[in-house]
Amino acid sequence: MAELQKDPMTRKDFLGFGILGAITGAILTIPPVAFVLGPIIDTDVLGESDVPNGPDDWFEVGSITDLKEEPVAFRVDFPVNQTYGDRAIQEESGLSTEEFVVESAIWVSWSTEILSDGSYGESRRPAFLDNYNGGTLSEEQIQEVQGALNVLSSSCAHLGCPVRWITKEGEGEFLCPCHGGIYNINGEYVGGPPPRGMYAYTSEVREDGKIYVRHEFDSGGDLGPQEPYVI
Ligand code: FES
Repeated sequence: MAELQKDPMTRKDFLGFGILGAITGAILTIPPVAFVLGPIIDTDVLGESDVPNGPDDWFEVGSITDLKEEPVAFRVDFPVNQTYGDRAIQEESGLSTEEFVVESAIWVSWSTEILSDGSYGESRRPAFLDNYNGGTLSEEQIQEVQGALNVLSSSCAHLGCPVRWITKEGEGEFLCPCHGGIYNINGEYVGGPPPRGMYAYTSEVREDGKIYVRHEFDSGGDLGPQEPYVI
């Protein structure tokens, strides 16, 4: 009797091809599906972090009576609105949206004339402050103080490391410990990798002599205000 012809594909081969096909299908399908669902994943699963920045969101930095000849570092805690999942559902359910703060160091210095060799000339600190120990400022005094202040972010304009004020032989500079960025007392670029000077906050001085900031950088020019990055 003639021998039956054997199928060249074994059961093991058949199952192997099936598994390989499933893996290939998954590799081809996952990226487009992730692309389509990306916005939903971002909004509904990861949530959002945001510092409120409405017209009334000003944060106290400190008093002008605390300022010195050299820059002074103040700490400001910006409240963060954190949403988990869908913002509308969180707000409807009355869950707290202000759960933590972003601690930020802000350097405040008196605007200073920079001479052609880079050394410091006259400070623009208003003379009336010699006899000021608090109290109500006139509109004119407010304008004078406001125009003479540098209110600077401590985050280096290169990659964000906190800069420090270092004084050497009578004159100081802001130095970045990470890659050696250097800025002068006005926060202007002096040397190293940063592509620009230090960021200045949108700030104002009020009649009680206190300095306030919004959570935004005043980039000047046509760019308008920029929001600092919140992790
Ligand atoms: S982070 Fe400041 S120089 Fe690089």
